[in-house]
Amino acid sequence: MSTTRNEAELQAMAKDHLWMHFTRQSTMEKSGVPIIVKGDGHHIWDAKGKQYFDGLAGLFVVNAGHGRRRLAETAARQASELAFFPLWSYAHPAAIELADRLADEAPGDLNRVFFSTGGGEAVETALKLAKHYWKLMGKPTKHKVISRSVAYHGTPHGALAITGIPAMKSMFEPVAPGGFRVPNTNFYRAAEMGAPADDEEAFGRWAADRIEEMILFEGADTVAAVFLEPVQNSGGCFPPPPGYFARVREICDRHDVLLVSDEVICAFGRLGHTFACTGLGYVPDMITCAKGMTSGYSPIGATIVSDRIYEPFSHGDMSFPHGYTFGGHPVSAAVALENLAIFDEEGLNQRVRENSPLFRAELEKLLDLPLVGDVRGDGYFFGIELVKDKGTKETFDDAESERLLRGFLSPALFEAGLYCRADDRGDPVIQLAPPLTIGQPEFREIEQILRDVLTRAQAVL
Ligand SMILES: Cc1ncc(COP(=O)(O)O)c(C=O)c1O
Repeated sequence: MSTTRNEAELQAMAKDHLWMHFTRQSTMEKSGVPIIVKGDGHHIWDAKGKQYFDGLAGLFVVNAGHGRRRLAETAARQASELAFFPLWSYAHPAAIELADRLADEAPGDLNRVFFSTGGGEAVETALKLAKHYWKLMGKPTKHKVISRSVAYHGTPHGALAITGIPAMKSMFEPVAPGGFRVPNTNFYRAAEMGAPADDEEAFGRWAADRIEEMILFEGADTVAAVFLEPVQNSGGCFPPPPGYFARVREICDRHDVLLVSDEVICAFGRLGHTFACTGLGYVPDMITCAKGMTSGYSPIGATIVSDRIYEPFSHGDMSFPHGYTFGGHPVSAAVALENLAIFDEEGLNQRVRENSPLFRAELEKLLDLPLVGDVRGDGYFFGIELVKDKGTKETFDDAESERLLRGFLSPALFEAGLYCRADDRGDPVIQLAPPLTIGQPEFREIEQILRDVLTRAQAVL
């Protein structure tokens, strides 16, 4: 849409009527809201005409970059031909072909695709499917779910039970019951968890064994599934230690517990593969995905399911009583197929695999700053943890964190022309997940902006 309103009019309308997501509404009163009007490649522009580097691909979404006419035209073509039809008893070519493509790319026997409209719905679908599956298998008490501390898995009540961030749940209690938390794979803070801190493999065994401990504690006959991100986003990009997922897979198999790979962020090239589990060498029972599937040109989510889980639903009068009006929307499905064609033609997955070490090396230069404690991540997905004292790894108290992140860093980074995320759902981190089209010159540009802003941040502490 090209609006005819000027910025002042839009600000006034937003202040009066727009309810922002996960945002303090009072900020609109004080300073208004940044209004983004245009995107092209890895750049975005605000209503004042100022250009920014999109260091977060919108919200881990715009993997192929902004301004792709081809995707916009695909959307328009599909909407002209068939704007909408549901997947309830009927189907349409775009959803069928996309399901085929996703099943082709998913590892092992993950061959069945259930569409939704976003990540939270994909997670909710996986949870309901796991519970229903165990009932059909004659194990009706298997309903609990295990996930990791500080992990974010979405906002529906079921997904919220899996989300491990108390501050996002307490006001909605009681959420769906049966969610249990185990430690995440934050190797930087291993010692504080009482875990092996000088051997990543030993740390990985320790972290995986906490899952088995929880299954045994709750009783394997009550646990339906474990939900894990390949690289955990919330808390600041925790990659899995070597051997972690192989051991988790063994544990899940031993106790008849389903392994769900929540790839809402990590799929579609973010880690250099269509599905991150492929690159990390494990085969889950389900994959949940969304965001990058269309690079954000239209919303869609999917839960990709193994033949084993699908089997009891496949015959007789069985159905899975679950669905969404807009799940597998024709426009979104057509755009997803075109987006994946762009991935193939431009070799975006391979590009990420080749360039990721260069991106990491550029960011690791920041470790010479007193504020930067750790740089971690994989692919085009990195977190930079900020600390008060590098030697002791002491973190900031709530007031300091507020002053540093909200008071200074978020506005200063934006002012300096870099849109990224300063987050304190765990320890304070800056998160980067740019479009997959960038390379070395852009990595350097990001490093230089961060260096300048983080150097100045020292002064506000
Ligand atoms: C790992 C993970 N799962 C689920 C979700 C929820 O996705 P959505 O916001 O599309 O509902 C997110 C969102 O960021 C996510 O990162």
